[in-house]
Amino acid sequence: MAVNDFIRDHKDRFLNELLDLLRIPSVSADPKFKEDVFAAADFVKESLVKAGADVAEICPTAGYPIVYGEKIIDTDLPTVLVYGHYDVQPADPYELWDSPPFEPVIKKTDVHPEGAIFARGSADDKGQFYMYVKAFEAMMASGDLPCNIKFMIEGEEEVGSDNLDKFVMANKEKLKADVILISDTHMISMQDPSITVGLRGMAYMEVEVTGSNRDLHSGTYGGAVANPINVLCDMIASMKDENDHITIPGFYDKVQELSAAQRDRLNLAPFDLNEYQAKLDIDKVHGEKGYTTIERVGIRPTLDVNGIWGGYIGEGAKTVLPSKANAKISMRLVPDQDWREIAELFENHFKSIAPKSVRVKVKAHHGGAPAVVSDSSVGYQAAEAAMEETFGKRPIPTREGGSIPIVALFQKELGSDPILFGFGLDTDALHSPNEHYGVKNYFIGIETIAAFFRQFRKLSQK
Ligand code: BES
Ligand code: MN
Ligand code: MN
Repeated sequence: MAVNDFIRDHKDRFLNELLDLLRIPSVSADPKFKEDVFAAADFVKESLVKAGADVAEICPTAGYPIVYGEKIIDTDLPTVLVYGHYDVQPADPYELWDSPPFEPVIKKTDVHPEGAIFARGSADDKGQFYMYVKAFEAMMASGDLPCNIKFMIEGEEEVGSDNLDKFVMANKEKLKADVILISDTHMISMQDPSITVGLRGMAYMEVEVTGSNRDLHSGTYGGAVANPINVLCDMIASMKDENDHITIPGFYDKVQELSAAQRDRLNLAPFDLNEYQAKLDIDKVHGEKGYTTIERVGIRPTLDVNGIWGGYIGEGAKTVLPSKANAKISMRLVPDQDWREIAELFENHFKSIAPKSVRVKVKAHHGGAPAVVSDSSVGYQAAEAAMEETFGKRPIPTREGGSIPIVALFQKELGSDPILFGFGLDTDALHSPNEHYGVKNYFIGIETIAAFFRQFRKLSQK
């Protein structure tokens, strides 16, 4: 096939261009990297122009821009909209990286014997959305672009996609498509390709507990005045019972319980608990009673402390009762939980369990809706067929624990089914030091995307 020949003939360049993109530290959360985030947007725009887009533009927002591009070959043909994000998570803590996060290197690992690209954003999501740019280029160059293509690559996914809603609402006609492809998730393994059909939602909270109006000598006052760190720990601990069930009243009211048959089907996915534990260096998994690990991640909500601070954490010992303690707490949500409702339930509950000895403040950061996508749409069938071509095996549908809040918005506002066509692996260390993306994953992804375009055109004609 001409497309695959082109991909093979331009392997080195396809890889090097991705490495160039990975050298740009486009960290959206940290204003220090502002210029770099804009530079990444320019890089994406330029790469779309070079690949053959008729339209490639930087669309400014109140925050970081959205890069839009398109190639319309024939308005009678189906249109594929590609979504991805060029922003990345902060690379901290830098000292835990084996090589600098923005100086990509290729190294072999057990899971990636053919090499993996180590860099922040390699798997999430630069390495994944860039596969579309290269697949597009290869299809154009070999004169075989079977469908129209549109790109919408944003720069604020890792900070809650605050400005994407407005852009989508204001540009529904421009973004009109028959299917939306998003490669920003995992598959089970190279041997067990899968397509994600569920993502969790999120409500992200920050709390502050205040005791006395200043830090106190822990001898003079200790035992007589509330220590906000102790109180905060007690409050957090009380939000789960002995079965790891969340105790916030009303929290589970809207949680969809799956039927036994649906649960059985989910649990059919290949999963080796011992291997899972061994890879994480843990002796035992931990989670809600009555559910398997696959279920705990895929279909059950959580409440987790992401950060907690207060008091003295410098060298040596300081005897102090701090005045304040803080924590960042996220709740992963499942259908049909509503993040605003959950944030409110959390706030009311947190305030209600605070002892009189402290005052508390609760703030909601971002949130997002969970999503379940169809496993029988034309797009899904095309994705299935494409993976079967390149992996030699029919992919299975899975539900993942991560969140891409705009998926629900796309379903509602654009009306076309998103396909969560991820090529990463859960061991790729997303958001973690030493994030990496398999070189093989990158190239098989590019080929699979090209196969999707052929399949989608074929299946759409029926
Ligand atoms: N690509 C991830 C989401 C993801 C990762 C889904 C792995 C499934 C498997 C995305 O970039 C991300 O990190 N999302 C955030 C949510 C956001 C509101 C900050 C997340 O899941 O924490
Ligand atoms: Mn991502
Ligand atoms: Mn991410």
